[in-house]
Order: sequence, then C-alpha cells, then structure tokens
Amino acid sequence: MSERVRLGVNIDHVATVRNARGGAHPDPVRAARTALAAGADGITAHLREDRRHITDGDIEALSRLCADADRPLNLEMALTPEMLDIALRHRPHAACLVPERREEVTTEGGLNVAAQAEAMTAAARTLSGAGIRVSLFIDPEPQQVIASADVGAQVIELHTGRFCLATGEARQGEFRRLVEAAQLAQSLGLEVHAGHGLDYDTAVEALAIPGVRELNIGHFLIGEAVFIGLDAAVRRMRAVMDGVTA
Ligand code: PXP
Repeated sequence: MSERVRLGVNIDHVATVRNARGGAHPDPVRAARTALAAGADGITAHLREDRRHITDGDIEALSRLCADADRPLNLEMALTPEMLDIALRHRPHAACLVPERREEVTTEGGLNVAAQAEAMTAAARTLSGAGIRVSLFIDPEPQQVIASADVGAQVIELHTGRFCLATGEARQGEFRRLVEAAQLAQSLGLEVHAGHGLDYDTAVEALAIPGVRELNIGHFLIGEAVFIGLDAAVRRMRAVMDGVTA
C-alpha cells in the first residue's frame, strides 16, 4: 500500500494577524502546536526578507517545537546569504527555496532555477551538506524540473496556484502540466510536493498528481480556522485527504 500523502501546515498567516496589532496574539507557535496535535505531519513557515509575518523569534521557537515533537519544519526562504545563514543556524528538516519580491502579496510564481543555476547549485550543496533537504518551489514547467535535478535538489514543490484559480478547459490544461512535471520529476529521482492555493476540494484533486508525497497548505486553513477553529480545520483537511469525508 502506498504511504499517505503528508500534510504540511503553513502558519504564516497567524503571524500576519498577530503583526496587525504588533502584540503577541495570536501566536503562530501555538497554532503550529495545535496543527500538529490535529494531525499535521509537519509545519511550514516562510521567513520573508521583510519579516512581514514570521519573525526570527518565531523560527527559533518553531524549530524547538518541531524538534521536541519530532516533526519536520519546512523553512521557506529566498536564496540570500542572510537566509542561508539562518537555515544553517536552525537546521530545519527542509529548506524550500522560493522567489521573493517585496511588492508581491504572496509567492506569485515559481523559481527560475535555470537562470540561477550556479547560485542554486552552491546553495543546494551547502544546505544538503548540513543535513537539510533542499526543495525548490517551481511552476510545472519541464525546464524548471530538469534544472532542479541538475542543481542537486532532492525535492520539487509544484506551484498549484494557477491550477486552483483556473476554470474550464484551462483548468484541465493546468492539471496536465502538474501531472507531466511530476512524472518528469519522478523519472529524475526528485520527490514531488505541491502547494499554493489549495482548499478541501483542490487538495483532493492534488492527490492525483503522480507520486506526490506532501501538500503544503496555509491560507485556506487559517481562514477556515476563523469559522471552525484550527484544530477542526486541520482534522477535516486530514480526513478529506484520507478519503474519510467529502
Ligand atoms: N508552498 C509555498 C512554497 C508557498 O510559498 C506557500 C505560500 O506561502 C504555500 C505552499 C502555501 O500556500 P497557501 O497559503 O496558498 O496555502
């Protein structure tokens, strides 16, 4: 029997709400603890250069929480010397390299791995050498998949944002791109993850991406938590992914 697909819960937007008032509530670390207790397999957090949500202190506390709980922390980060230093200091289970533009509302597209091959190769070597799995967040494009394997990543996370937003025929086309990228990635020995824009329905669809091992989900779950609580939202996502509930 194939292993169940892991659920990584991204708690960035708990920090977004906290930071709106500059205080300590709601605490993303408490959210991470709740998510793990509710069935999340790991925690994902994006330390952005502008620290708009997650802070350095959060990463410190999340690292401790995940170590104590023996669950993986997936640190999303831009490829900068500062972020590499932070990753090497905390040694998360995985570092997911993402493109970052200050003016963007969220991570809008995937990395152009081929265009930064030299820097990516060096970063992948440094991070892997420290025992950190290297994941690259890319659009489902064959040249990005091939470049990810070439620079020495172990994992690709396929950007599902366009698929989630597309309708009609375009939607089928977007899904086909995800399927083909995943097949290519597997043939190159890369582990396949997926994330961005997923909800209860699209998460189930994403499970049909060949070989997908992990979904990383944030905004929808934190939004749902407003209505049903984070514990219930994560439990429901897990149940939906397990095919227990529709
Ligand atoms: N994966 C990556 C690499 C991301 O940058 C994000 C957004 O921070 C997510 C997954 C989660 O996306 P969403 O918040 O839309 O679920």
